[in-house]
Amino acid sequence: MVKLNGVVVRVPGKVNLHLGVGPLDPDGYHEVTTVFQAISLYDDVTIKHGEPGQGIVLTLSGSTSMGVPVDSSNLAFRAAELMTDRYDLSKDLSIHLKKEIPVAGGMAGGSADAAGVLVGIDALFDVGLSRDEMERIAAELGSDVPFSISGGICIGTGRGDRITPALSRGTYHWVLALSGHGLSTPAVYGECDRLREGMPIARPQVSEAMMQSLRAGDPKAVGKALANDLQAAACSLRPALRLVLDVGLEYGALGGIVSGSGPTVAFLVDDEEKALDLTVALSASGVVSGVIRANGPTHGARVVETL
Ligand code: C5P
Repeated sequence: MVKLNGVVVRVPGKVNLHLGVGPLDPDGYHEVTTVFQAISLYDDVTIKHGEPGQGIVLTLSGSTSMGVPVDSSNLAFRAAELMTDRYDLSKDLSIHLKKEIPVAGGMAGGSADAAGVLVGIDALFDVGLSRDEMERIAAELGSDVPFSISGGICIGTGRGDRITPALSRGTYHWVLALSGHGLSTPAVYGECDRLREGMPIARPQVSEAMMQSLRAGDPKAVGKALANDLQAAACSLRPALRLVLDVGLEYGALGGIVSGSGPTVAFLVDDEEKALDLTVALSASGVVSGVIRANGPTHGARVVETL
């Protein structure tokens, strides 16, 4: 076995096609039922052996890296600490994140980086973790990290961390309307609780309409079935998102939804041509800070280069 000097792991962002949120549990989390789709917007995580004694050194580049911390407040840093502690590996590691997934955008950008570190360290040291072990350690870091490892289209239950692949056909074309400033996930969940105070809240269910539409590979039906219990909360904290949703639907999207806890709004469209039209319309509307096109589903965290 040749010892590797380093690895590059490519990890996708995600959209939630469905996000059902149950009541607040005593542990501070909500039981959710969600449908994740990995999309072709990636962060690249490069991990190399460092100099003896340097410890974990995190560096950043890429269009969405501004203001991202490089200490233990970064989930990727914590992922490296967790892996090296648990498997008794050297902490002298240089980790570079090339970021394209929006930060605090509801697209699991931080989770993607943590997933990339887990997969990268596993490969670099030839740890040989099984998929189950990898998902368990991922769930300790955050609710979306297991999905970032698996990719594809999955149903998430529990905190969203228990994932099962979903049957699905076809390729889905997305136009993503970005916001200049992120939204904090705990703040959006908190606003959701506030808006629903005093209401009976059912346990979240898998959306049959969504599952059927995916099995049929029918983007129009998927567009109609898009649903997110956090959308009202994200719009309450960021009222401009309602305008973004209106503009996208007016310009022919099959459906539009706040992704996860937002503020990214994901629009599903028929094909590449419609995606381009909607990109132009949204950019011209002045209600968004940026627009990105992506397709899904795509792969999860995987090694794309060895060094
Ligand atoms: O799991 P993660 O660290 O990504 O979650 C961030 C925060 O989002 C949690 O501290 C909690 O406030 C909220 N959350 C929740 N229910 C979930 C997932 C996240 O309330 N299922």
